[in-house]
Amino acid sequence: MLRPLLPPHSRRCAGWLLVGTVACAEPSDVDATVETATGPEALPASATGQASPEDPQWASLATRPCPEDSYLDTENFGRPFMLSWCTGCHSADMPAGMRQGAPPDVNFDTSTEVRDWADRIWARSGDHNGSMPPVAPAPLELRRQLGEWLACGAP
Ligand code: HEC
Repeated sequence: MLRPLLPPHSRRCAGWLLVGTVACAEPSDVDATVETATGPEALPASATGQASPEDPQWASLATRPCPEDSYLDTENFGRPFMLSWCTGCHSADMPAGMRQGAPPDVNFDTSTEVRDWADRIWARSGDHNGSMPPVAPAPLELRRQLGEWLACGAP
């Protein structure tokens, strides 16, 4: 039953808006998405962008630490992140013709599926990794939060 919050076009716009471009319509919708996906302690738009050389580049999710004070959980981060950035293609609810090539067995609808795929989700989208979604990755700050949430076991 999980549906993306916005169609793919708008999700891409949300990404661009975060890096300071204002070429996309419906700013109020985009703002709502960003708010949902980042939570109250999100950093400002200036914190987004590409990974810098000083950024830690862990070799795998297994070596990515979980901060003791992490507040991220499925409700305040995981579900809205997946809805905004991944399940537009990676959902069992998505008809085959609308998955844009996402493999039929790679779905992130449930906590169990996300945890089963955690290593690969991190390798494609967590922290310095940015090869998913294929067209444009989520902003770095969101990817850091994804890495943290996954490293803590996607609670
Ligand atoms: C626009 C559609 C689309 C979106 C949105 C999308 N993916 Fe994908 N995904 C694909 C396609 C196409 C493939 C197969 C090609 C490939 O692996 O690059 C794929 C494959 C995958 C795989 C399986 C291959 C592997 O590397 O293990 C994972 C994991 C994955 N995506 C993670 C994600 C995550 C995490 C997100 C959200 C941050 C996401 N994808 C968003 C289209 C999408």
